[in-house]
Amino acid sequence: APDRPILGIETSCDETACAVYEGARGLLAHRLHSQIRLHAEYGGVVPELASRDHVSRIHELVRGTLADAGLQPQELGGIAYTAGPGLIGALMVGASLAAGMAAALGLPLIAVHHMEAHLLAPMLEENKPAFPFLALLVSGGHSLLVAVRGVGEYELLGESLDDAVGEAFDKTAKLLGLPYPGGPELARLATAGDGRRYDFPRPMTDRPGLDFSFSGLKTAVLTALPKHASEQDKADLAASFQEAVTDTLAIKCQRALKHSGFKRLVVAGGVGANLRLREKLGLLAQREGFALFFPRQAFCTDNGAMIAYTGWARRAQGRLATARIFTTPRWPL
Ligand code: KG4
Ligand code: ZN
Repeated sequence: APDRPILGIETSCDETACAVYEGARGLLAHRLHSQIRLHAEYGGVVPELASRDHVSRIHELVRGTLADAGLQPQELGGIAYTAGPGLIGALMVGASLAAGMAAALGLPLIAVHHMEAHLLAPMLEENKPAFPFLALLVSGGHSLLVAVRGVGEYELLGESLDDAVGEAFDKTAKLLGLPYPGGPELARLATAGDGRRYDFPRPMTDRPGLDFSFSGLKTAVLTALPKHASEQDKADLAASFQEAVTDTLAIKCQRALKHSGFKRLVVAGGVGANLRLREKLGLLAQREGFALFFPRQAFCTDNGAMIAYTGWARRAQGRLATARIFTTPRWPL
């Protein structure tokens, strides 16, 4: 059967996630376990703890997802898993289980690129983009502008030369004394702040090109941070930082749309959950006349649905990965 459902497994970082996708009925089930509480006391993800927790959660998560979908393992058409980029020990957990299931069930094993999955996540929505589109991929590890002409047809237009956007959010949040994970905490604090109080740079917008640089912004925040900062100071710093980041991203998106001639913009990855970014790009889309697409908030950050979808799309094209365990911490799109 060409359209049997695909199981997707995601264990690249601090979320254990699993989902089932099929062409005719779409997303049949998805489950996720977040390790946020496990890592919070360390102020960031501890790789060894992440791997161990994936091992202890993944079996029940897969069983539960299949039960939610009302499926027996024998009814699946393939097993997709995140092969990279990510934490190598964490990736190995999903890869091993996926390879074991595929071998036991005699199913194809599909190695999925985590960032490809992020950029295809909006395809899970009712209002999904047609090809071609421009994708702004903004996560904890990557900031990319990609021209997407079809599934598997990607051209990198620009990327961050230093910190990823999510990383800049997380590091700046730490400077402001906010707990891990910093990005959403900083965004929350920013709602109480004045984003015009500090005039932070909009890095690399004054010269041509589509690359980003965000490491200077966190230094600018550190320099502006008063020794005995009040809650209002911190909120204003958070808001001003967020204005600088979102302005910079909006300017680069506008430039990339002009450069490519595309009329559709997809924003995905964890920072795509940022409401100020969504608002700013929404206004820009109205003004410039392009269509804007986001995955739902829960599918901006890491999830299993985007892995199952990407596995399904890749199998539909007949582009199956070789049946071997394949993981890599670094893997260019
Ligand atoms: O895509 P993701 O879940 O994992 C990676 O593949 O990296 O992205 C996580 C990143 C983190 O840096 C997190 O702080 C950031 O996305 N993030 C946000 C928001 N929600 C998540 N940054 C800004 N505003 C948010 N609302
Ligand atoms: Zn991710």
